[in-house]
Amino acid sequence: MQLSTFTQVLKYKFTVTENHADPETMLLSFLREKLRLTGTKYGCGGGGCGACTVMVSRYQPATKTIIHYSANACLLPLCQLHGAAVITVEGIGSTKTRIHPVQERIAKAHGSQCGFCTPGMVMSMYALLRNKPQPTMEDITQALAGNLCRCTGYRPIVDGCRTFCQETNCCQANGVGNCCLNGANNADEPEHEKPQLFDKDDFLPLDPTQELIFPPELILMAEMANPQTLTFCGERMTWVSPTSLEELVQLKTSNPKAPLVMGNTNIGPDMRFKGVQHPLIISPTRVTELFEVTQTPQGVCLGAGCSLSEVRSLLEKLVPQLPEEKTELFKALIQQLGNLGSQQIRNVASLGGNIMSAYPNSDLNPILAAGNSKVSVISSGGRREVPLNQDFFVSFGKTILKPEEILVSVFIPFSRKGEFVRAFRQAPRKESSFATVTTGMRVFFSEGSRVVQDISIYYGGMGPTTVSAAKTCAAIVARPWDDETLSRAYDILLDELALPPSAPGGKVEFRRSLTLSFLFKFNLEVLQKLREMNVITDELPEKMQIKPLPREIQRSLQEFQHVSKGQSNQDPVGRPIMHRSAISQATGEAVYCDDIPKTDGELFLALVTSSRAHAKITGLDVSEALQLPGVVDVITSKDIPGKKVRSMFGYHEELLAESKVSCIGQMVCAVVADTRAHAKRGAAAVKISYEDLPDPVFTIEEAVEKSSFFEPLRMIERGNVTEAFKSVDQVYEGEMRMGGQEHFYMETQSMLVVPVGEETEFNVYVSTQWPTLTQDAVAETLDIPSNRVTCHVKRIGGAFGGKVTKTSILASITSVAAWKTNHAVRCVLERGEDMLITGGRHPILGKYKVGFMNDGRIVAADIQYFTNAGNTVDESVLVVEKILLHMDNTYNIPNLRGRAAACRTNLPSNTAFRGFGVPQSIMVVENMVNDVAVVLGRPPDQVREINMYKGLSVTHYKFEFSPENMLRCWEECKAKSDYSARRRAIDQFNQQSRWKKRGMSLIPIKYGIAFAESFLNQAAALVHIYKDGSVLVNHGGTEMGQGIHTKIQQVASRELHIPPSKIYISETSTNTVPNTCPSAASFGTDANGMAVKNACQTLYQRLEPLRQKDPKGSWESWVRAAFFEKISLSATGFHRGPDLYMDWDKMEGQPYAYYTFGACCCEVELDCLTGDYRTVKTDIVVDIGRSLNPSVDIGQIEGAFMQGLGLYTLEELKFSPSGLLYTRGPSQYKIPAVCDMPLQFNVYLLSDSHNPHAIYSSKGIGEPVLFLGSSVFFAIKDAVAAARSESGLVGPFSLDSPATPERACLACASRFTQKIPDSKPGSFKPRALNI
Ligand SMILES: Cc1cc2nc3c(=O)[nH]c(=O)nc-3n(C[C@H](O)[C@H](O)[C@H](O)COP(=O)(O)OP(=O)(O)OC[C@H]3O[C@@H](n4cnc5c(N)ncnc54)[C@H](O)[C@@H]3O)c2cc1C
Ligand code: FES
Ligand code: FES
Repeated sequence: MQLSTFTQVLKYKFTVTENHADPETMLLSFLREKLRLTGTKYGCGGGGCGACTVMVSRYQPATKTIIHYSANACLLPLCQLHGAAVITVEGIGSTKTRIHPVQERIAKAHGSQCGFCTPGMVMSMYALLRNKPQPTMEDITQALAGNLCRCTGYRPIVDGCRTFCQETNCCQANGVGNCCLNGANNADEPEHEKPQLFDKDDFLPLDPTQELIFPPELILMAEMANPQTLTFCGERMTWVSPTSLEELVQLKTSNPKAPLVMGNTNIGPDMRFKGVQHPLIISPTRVTELFEVTQTPQGVCLGAGCSLSEVRSLLEKLVPQLPEEKTELFKALIQQLGNLGSQQIRNVASLGGNIMSAYPNSDLNPILAAGNSKVSVISSGGRREVPLNQDFFVSFGKTILKPEEILVSVFIPFSRKGEFVRAFRQAPRKESSFATVTTGMRVFFSEGSRVVQDISIYYGGMGPTTVSAAKTCAAIVARPWDDETLSRAYDILLDELALPPSAPGGKVEFRRSLTLSFLFKFNLEVLQKLREMNVITDELPEKMQIKPLPREIQRSLQEFQHVSKGQSNQDPVGRPIMHRSAISQATGEAVYCDDIPKTDGELFLALVTSSRAHAKITGLDVSEALQLPGVVDVITSKDIPGKKVRSMFGYHEELLAESKVSCIGQMVCAVVADTRAHAKRGAAAVKISYEDLPDPVFTIEEAVEKSSFFEPLRMIERGNVTEAFKSVDQVYEGEMRMGGQEHFYMETQSMLVVPVGEETEFNVYVSTQWPTLTQDAVAETLDIPSNRVTCHVKRIGGAFGGKVTKTSILASITSVAAWKTNHAVRCVLERGEDMLITGGRHPILGKYKVGFMNDGRIVAADIQYFTNAGNTVDESVLVVEKILLHMDNTYNIPNLRGRAAACRTNLPSNTAFRGFGVPQSIMVVENMVNDVAVVLGRPPDQVREINMYKGLSVTHYKFEFSPENMLRCWEECKAKSDYSARRRAIDQFNQQSRWKKRGMSLIPIKYGIAFAESFLNQAAALVHIYKDGSVLVNHGGTEMGQGIHTKIQQVASRELHIPPSKIYISETSTNTVPNTCPSAASFGTDANGMAVKNACQTLYQRLEPLRQKDPKGSWESWVRAAFFEKISLSATGFHRGPDLYMDWDKMEGQPYAYYTFGACCCEVELDCLTGDYRTVKTDIVVDIGRSLNPSVDIGQIEGAFMQGLGLYTLEELKFSPSGLLYTRGPSQYKIPAVCDMPLQFNVYLLSDSHNPHAIYSSKGIGEPVLFLGSSVFFAIKDAVAAARSESGLVGPFSLDSPATPERACLACASRFTQKIPDSKPGSFKPRALNI
C-alpha cells in the first residue's frame, strides 16, 4: 500500500508533515520523542489520568466551522490526526514569549506543586475556554474531571480556574446568601486586611482574540473536492482511512476481522495493555454518513461516528425544543453521558464504538436498550435495522452483528405521554470511572392509570454483558405500580440477576444490592411522576424522598498570619510566595527526568518480572527476545559486576532474582533495546519457566499462623495493662483492617544512566528522594567507588515515600545495562509496571482490647498491629516502630501496650509512604476511641476530649511535651466549624431523611517530626555567589512538589538580604553536596534550611568588611569587591540535627524533635442506598509554628488531606488469589479526583505558635495532615450509624478502611442489602484476597 501525507499543526505555526506515520504510534510518543515537545506528559497511557491532554481542532467543511476539543494524546493514533490541528501546552504560552492566562492563573493560585499534572490541567482548561470564555463552575469541574493530581488536593487549581467565571463572588461561607465579605465571622479583622494567597488583580485578562488561529492550509485541505484514501504502513500494522461508505463496506467485507477505529478508547487500551495486535486497522472517520444526524417524527437518528460529547450536546439542544413528555429517554441519556468517562474520553469516543465494544458495564447500552433504540447496519449484503434489546448483546465484548457489518446510525425514539425513563449508576469514584452497576429503566402507563402497560429494565455490571431483567419486568407488567407489585419485583430481580460469589469483578453482594436499590429509586421517581399527573394522590412522606447529593463547590477559606509589621518588604520569609517553578511547570518547560533529550545511541530498558508468587526459576529463555528488531541485550543477575543484593536489617534483597522468586512482579531480568517499543516487545518475548513452591503466604492471617515475620518484632508498654483491665468499668474488644495504598506519583519511576566514557564514571539522572542512596547503590552494584557516580535530581513528579529504596534498585539495574553496553540507558516504568513492582503503604490488621470507666476515661488499652510487609524487609521494621510510637495519638492512656509485627508474605514488598505507618497506627486507635464512645452512648468528640493529654505530659515512651497547641487546634477547629450547631442540624436532618444521612467527625493529630535514626538528622549545603551577584544554592533536599526549593530560596534571601530573584537552585546533585539524607519524615526543610542558613551567614559575614567600607554600595558592588580582594564567595553549610533515639529494650526515648499538631472536622452526606457520599465541608486547623511560606504549607495540608481521604475512603488495591495485583492503573485504582474535593475546604494555620526546634520557628508539615483524611472516614461511619439505627441496629459495628461506597452501603444494612444472602466462607474461591 502506498504511503500518504500526514499533516497537523503543533505549537504555534508549526506544521508537521509525516510521510512515515506508524499506525502504532500515538500522538503522545510522537510529541515527546519525535518533536521533543515534552510538556505533554505520560501518566498512564490509557486515558485515565489526563496528564497527556492536548487540544485538537478540526475544520468541518459541511458547516464551515472549527471545533476544538480536549483529548488524551496517549490514545490518539497519529494517523487519526490527518488534517487536524493539535495545540500542546508549549503552543499556548511560554516564559520566552508570553504566558497564557490559564498557565498564569493556575501557577499563581498555587495550583502547581510537583507540576507533573499541570500541563494537562492547563490544556483541559484551555480547551474549555476556547469554547466558552466565561465558563460556570460546573463547566470547570467537568473539564477537569479527567485530570488527576496527586499533590494539590485540587482546591487551588479550581480556585485559579474559577477566576475565569462570571459567577457571584459570594463565598457563602457564612451560610446561604451570607458572604464572609460581610465580615460577620471575623469582625475584628476586615476581609481586605486579611492576608490572601494570591491577588487576582495581578492576572492578565483573557483575550479570546489573541488565541492561535486554525491553520488556513488545513481548511483548504478539508475543502478539497476529491479526498484520497489514506494508507499508512508500520512495522506490524497497516492503517487505511477510506473516504466513502462504499469503500468502507468493501474494506470491511474483505477484512472482517479488522477493527474500525474511531475514538480508539477501546482498541487503544486493548493493544497497549492486553497485547492485542491488529495487522489492519480501518479508520472511518472521514465517512460522512457515519456522522449524519436526522430527526423523524418518532425520534432522532444519530450517526454512529458521533462522539459522545456531540451526542450529549445534540440531545441537550433538542430537549428544550421538544414537549417534555417526548424527552424522557433523551434526559436519561444526557445524565449518563455526563458521568461517562472524562471530557477527554467523551470528546473522542464514538456512540457506535460504545455500543459495539459491548462492555459489561457500558453506561449507554442499558439505557438505549431500555428505551427501545435501534441500530442501522450496513454490509455488502445491504442495510438492515436491528433492535438494541436483550438479543443484541451476546457475550463479553460481542454483539449479534456479523464481523463484516458496520454500524451506521442509532435511532433513539421519543418517549410517549405516560412513559418514564431513568438511568442510575454507581461507580467506585463519582466521576471518570466505569460503573460498578449501571442501569436503564423505562415504564409506560396508559393515560390516567397506574397499571403498567410496558416496562423494560437493563443492567450493566451484572454479567459479562448488558443484561435484561426480563422476568422482573414480566412480573410488573399489567399490574398496578404499587408496593405489592414492587415487593414481588425485588424478590424476582434478586433471583434473576444472581451472581456467583466468585463472579468476575467481585463486589457481588454490593452489586446485587445495587440492582434492588436502583429499582427502589426508580419506584420513588415513578411515584412522584404519577403524583404530578394526579394518577395517585397519596403524598410520599418527606423522609422517604431522595434528592441528589449536593455538588456545588463553595469558596474555601485559607487563614494564616501576616508577617510581623517590622519585617522588611524584601524579606520573603512567611509570605505566600508561589512555588518557584510553577510557571515553567504550567508552560511545560519544566524538565523532568524523562524529558531529558535522548543522547546518541541511547538504549531503553524494559523489565521482565515474575508471574509466580513463590517458585523456583527452572529456565530463562531469552533467545526469541534477542532475535527481535532493535533488541541489544538482556541483563540478568549474572551480569552484575558488584553486589547483587541490597541488605537491610540482616535480610538480603536480590536486585534481579536468580533462582527463586517470592512475589509476582519481582524483577528477574531486563531487556535493552534501541527504542521503548522494541524493549517492551523484547521483554514480552522472554520466557521464564518455574516450578511452584508450596504454601505461598499472602494474607496477614496466613503469616501469623506460620509465624512468617521480619524480625525484630516490637513491643512497648507503659503502666500495667493486665492489672488495669481488672479495675475498669467496661472492656471492649474490636479489630480493624486497613488496606494499603499505591503512591500513584504522577511521574512513574524514571532514570537515565549515562556512562561518561572514561574511568568507569557515570552520571545518573534520576527521580529520587534520596540521591545519595542511589549513588551508593549504583557504586556497590558496579563495584566502583562512589566518587565515580554522580546523581542528579532536577525535580521529581511526586514521590510520597515511593522514590527511595525501590528507585535505588531500579537505578542499579539500569546502571548494569549502561555499564555492560557502554551506552546511555533509560528506564521509565509504565504505570502498570510501576504499580506492580514498587509496592506501597503497608496494609494492616489492628486488634484492640480497651478498658474504660463509665465516665469515658480510657484506663487501659492493648493494641496489636500486623502489617503486610510483602516479600522483602525494605523499611518495614522502621514502619512498625513508628506505628508503636504514635499509638497514643493525642490520648493520655495510663496503661498502654502495643505490639507490632511486619508480616513476610509473597506479595510485592511494601515501603515508605507519606506518614510512614502513622496513618495506620492512629486509625486503629481512633476507631477504638469511637467504639468506646458508641458503647457508652456518648458523642465521640467528648470521649476524645476526656482522654486527651492536658498540661505538661509524658508519652508512652517517656518523652515530655506540652499539648497546649494541640488543645488549641482542637478548640479552634470546633469553633471554626461551628461543631455543636452543625451537630444538632445533622441530627435533625437525619431524623427527616430515611435514605440519605449526614455524618460528622472531629479528629485530632499529634505527629512526631524528624528521624528517630539520629544520623539521618543532618544536612549540608553549598552556596556560591558569582561575580555578577547571582547566587547558586545547592543543598541535599530534593524538590518533589513540596516546595523545598522555594522555601530554601526564601531562607537564602533573608540571610543574604537579597531578593529571591537573584537566587537560583538548579538541581540536587551528589557532587555538590555529598552524603545527603532523604527528603522524608517532613524534615527536609528543617534540616536543609538550617544548612543553607549556615552557609549564607558565613558568606554574609565575609562580606561584612566590604559593606562597612562602602555602606552605600550595592550587593553587586560588594560581591565584585570581594572577588578583587580575594575573599571566597563560596561556602558550605552544615546542620547537625537533634540527637534523637529510641531504646526499645528500655521502651523509652526521644525519637522526635517536636510535634506538629492539628484537628479536622468533616461533614459528609451519604446515600445509604448506594454508598455514594460527598464531603460537604472540611475545616482543618494546623499548628505549624510560624509558616515559612503559607501557600506552600497550605498546599501540603490540602494535598495530604486529600491523599488521606483517598486512603480511607476510596483507594483499594486488589490482589488475585494467586497474588497478582489486579489494580494496575487509574481505570482500576481510583485516587481522589476533583469530584472528591470537599465542597467547602477551609484551612486555618494556628496563630501565635512558635517552635524553637526548627528554622525560623516553623514546623514540618509534609506528612501529618494525611491522617486527618480519616475524619471523612469517621464522618461516613457516623452517617452509617444513623442509617443502621433506622434498621434497629445499635452499638459498635465494624467498617474497614477504605470506606468505599461498597462497604458503606453494606454497613448501612438497608432492607435491600439485608435481602442478599451471605455467601458461606469456604464454599467458594473469592475473586480477591483479603490481604
Ligand atoms: C478512561 C476510560 C474511561 C471510560 N469510562 C467509561 C464509562 O464510564 N462508561 C462507559 O460506558 N464507557 C466508558 N469508557 C468506554 C468508552 O466509552 C468506549 O471505549 C468508547 O465509547 C468506544 O468508542 P471508540 O470510538 O473509542 O471505539 P474504538 O476503540 O475506536 O472502537 C471500539 C470497537 O468498536 C467497533 N466499532 C466502532 N465503530 C463501529 C462502527 N461504526 N461499526 C462497527 N463497529 C464499530 C470497533 O471495530 C472496535 O471493535 C471509557 C473508556 C476509557 C478509555
Ligand atoms: S497518559 Fe494519557 S491519560 Fe494518562
Ligand atoms: S502538582 Fe498535580 S500531580 Fe503534582
